[in-house]
Amino acid sequence: MAYEFITTRTEGEKVGVITLNRPKQLNALSPALMVELGQALKAFDADEAIGCIVITGNEKAFAAGADIGAMATYTFADVYRDDYITRDWETIGGIRKPVIAAVSGFALGGGCELAMMCDFIIAADNAKFGQPEIKLGIIPGAGGTQRLPRAVGKAKAMDLVLTGRMMDAKEAEAAGLVSRVVPLDKLMDEALAAALMISGYGRMAVMAAKECVNKAFEGTLADGVMFERRLFHALFATADQKEGMDAFVNKRPAAFKNQ
Ligand code: CAA
Repeated sequence: MAYEFITTRTEGEKVGVITLNRPKQLNALSPALMVELGQALKAFDADEAIGCIVITGNEKAFAAGADIGAMATYTFADVYRDDYITRDWETIGGIRKPVIAAVSGFALGGGCELAMMCDFIIAADNAKFGQPEIKLGIIPGAGGTQRLPRAVGKAKAMDLVLTGRMMDAKEAEAAGLVSRVVPLDKLMDEALAAALMISGYGRMAVMAAKECVNKAFEGTLADGVMFERRLFHALFATADQKEGMDAFVNKRPAAFKNQ
């Protein structure tokens, strides 16, 4: 299948590799890209030869978040009624084969959330993680407020979500967000070696292992994500969301009015 915003390939006939491919926009996750990502994930999940999937970006960015340009003028009606932005994000949760995020460069906002939706993250030493939505007058809207505390604990999650600061790969590893950090030029070798190893194990055991580890975390996650979704949508009714995104698009400092 031909894609516009991602590329796909297989490695060793057993691993599906999906590369996010909007380099000029730092792989900003537009609705169209997320549709393609969902299609590619489902295709690899359905392919009997494939035992594991790797999602990656480029050296500078895994993904710098949802596409701010596309979101900037959305209203509450757009995002709530049509579930814009986040509609196609939950596909990844339904993928039964393991999905590894191989992250180099920025993994911010929806980029960090996408990485966290994967089963584990292998990071290059230049990776930077963060949830900077607060700077745009919104909050994380693709599970970040729920998955980040589960991964790194409340204190660091609050720090990251409330300040919008980035953490580097070393801090992310120490906090438990990433499973391993490797030199940038070894990132794909390491991720593919892990994926090939997983692909070599019994498919049902691998799927069961994934399902069980996820059970440990998913108690109230669905409620939490839905709660987050409603508030994320509600923020599109505020003037500060318009101001924050307009300021980003026009490359000027934001002047929030708390309205
Ligand atoms: N959406 C759309 N375009 C983006 C983008 C995004 N999330 N992030 C970067 N870009 C674009 C920039 O506008 C710029 O485009 P032009 O060349 O056409 O001007 C290009 O990518 C390169 O970006 P910068 O010039 O800003 O690169 P930099 O190296 O100076 O800075 C950065 C890199 C710190 C990542 C900066 O781009 C940035 O802060 N990006 C926004 C990060 C962000 O706020 N993410 C959260 C989005 S909201 C979200 O994700 C909601 C959700 O939870 C679902």
